[in-house]
Amino acid sequence: MQIEIFDSELKLAERAADLFEDTIRKNPAAVLGLATGASPVNTYNELIERYRAGKISFADITTFNLDEYCDLPRDDKNSYYSFMQQNLFGKVDIRPENVHIENGNADDFDAEAAAYDRAIEAAGGIDLQLLGIGTNGHIGFNEPADAFTDGTFRIKLTESTIKANSRYFTDSEMPRYALTMGIASIMHAKKILLIATGKAKAEAIYNTVKGPITPRCPASVLRLHQNAILLLDTEAASLL
Ligand code: F6R
Repeated sequence: MQIEIFDSELKLAERAADLFEDTIRKNPAAVLGLATGASPVNTYNELIERYRAGKISFADITTFNLDEYCDLPRDDKNSYYSFMQQNLFGKVDIRPENVHIENGNADDFDAEAAAYDRAIEAAGGIDLQLLGIGTNGHIGFNEPADAFTDGTFRIKLTESTIKANSRYFTDSEMPRYALTMGIASIMHAKKILLIATGKAKAEAIYNTVKGPITPRCPASVLRLHQNAILLLDTEAASLL
C-alpha cells in the first residue's frame, strides 16, 4: 500500500485528480468507482475544473457508486444520487445512462444487489475506485464485522455511522439501512484510491495501516491489494 501525506487538502485533491486524469487519458472509456461524503468533494471540484478547462471528458466514462441509503427517495436532498448530481454529474459531460448508483428503493434488495454486481462485471470491472473511510474504519458501508463481505448487499448501519452522518439529516430521519458494494467488490478494482483528512480519521488510519488485517477494521484489507494508494492530510496521518 502506497501512502502519501499532504499539508493541505487542496494539494491532496490535486493529486487525487491527477490519478483520475491519468486513468481517463489512458482510457477515455474507463470505469470509475465513486464515493460520496465530505472526503471526495475537493477532488470532484478539481475534476470539474479540469473538465471545464477541456483537459478531460466524461463522455465515454462509466461510473458505479459505492453505496446508497435504503428507503430514502432518490431525489431527497440527502440521497447519494442527489449528492452525485450536485457535486459531479450535473457539472460534467457524463451520460446519465452510464451512471450507476444502487436503487435503495428496490422491491427486492437481494435482486438489486446481484444486478449491480453483474453490471460492474459487464462493464469490465472498475479501473479506479475512490474511497473515503469512516471513523470506525468502514469503507463503502462495510461496517466492522466478524468477516469480510463479498459482493453488493444491504447492511444495517452502525450507531457510529448514524451518529457521524445524521448531521446532514436536519429535517428527516436518517435511514438505518443502505445498499453497499461489498469488500470483494471493492478489492476487485484494478486501482484503489482512499482519501482521509482530519483528526477524526487518525485512529481509523492507524488501524488501517498498522493494526491487524481484520474485518473489525474493514479498510485494513486494502493492505492486501496490489495497487492501493492512501492520500492523507497531516492530521489523518498524525498517529502513524
Ligand atoms: C460514501 C462512503 C463512506 C464514506 C465515509 C467517510 O460513499 O462510502 O464510506 O466515504 O463514511 O465519509 P466522509 O468523507 O463524509 O467523512
